[in-house]
Amino acid sequence: MITLSLAGLPVRERINKECIVSSDVVHVINGPNLNMLGKREPEVYGSLSLEDINQGLDVLADELGIKLSFFQSNHEGELLDYIHGIFEQSPAGVIINPGAFTHTSVALRDALLLLSCPIIEVHLSNIHKREPFRHKSMIADIARGQLTGFGHFGYHMALRSIHNSLAG
Ligand code: DQA
Repeated sequence: MITLSLAGLPVRERINKECIVSSDVVHVINGPNLNMLGKREPEVYGSLSLEDINQGLDVLADELGIKLSFFQSNHEGELLDYIHGIFEQSPAGVIINPGAFTHTSVALRDALLLLSCPIIEVHLSNIHKREPFRHKSMIADIARGQLTGFGHFGYHMALRSIHNSLAG
């Protein structure tokens, strides 16, 4: 059982009870089209596949002593079902790249509001330097933070940030 300090947390994390974390698993969730990384617009998203990115994250997680669980889906409902499932397990943190659902999905936002753990939003590309419709994120204001434009390092930075919170 890990207890997080409440100081400096987003309102969502403070409101949701005492932010008591009973599982030591960090969930890495990727949304639509991210299974095509490596093949999909490599000039925007880089040449690594999602499997490459996840393997690199696993190496870092081992170093940090954190357990990871990976999930990717192209279907909004499956992402919601997965989040409902992990809600029951009280995860230690969520790293999420919601892909295009970032900009549209109230349902994804509502599901994430179930969670009291830190949520870090990650984007490979810098969504604020791209088309105006990508500038809006439905989850940025309920996340601990947003890492956008750092390529796959964004996932590493997110994991280090969650590790820092767990360490107190
Ligand atoms: C993305 C940015 C989104 O706008 C886009 O729809 C994606 C990937 C990123 O990682 O840069 O699918 O989330």
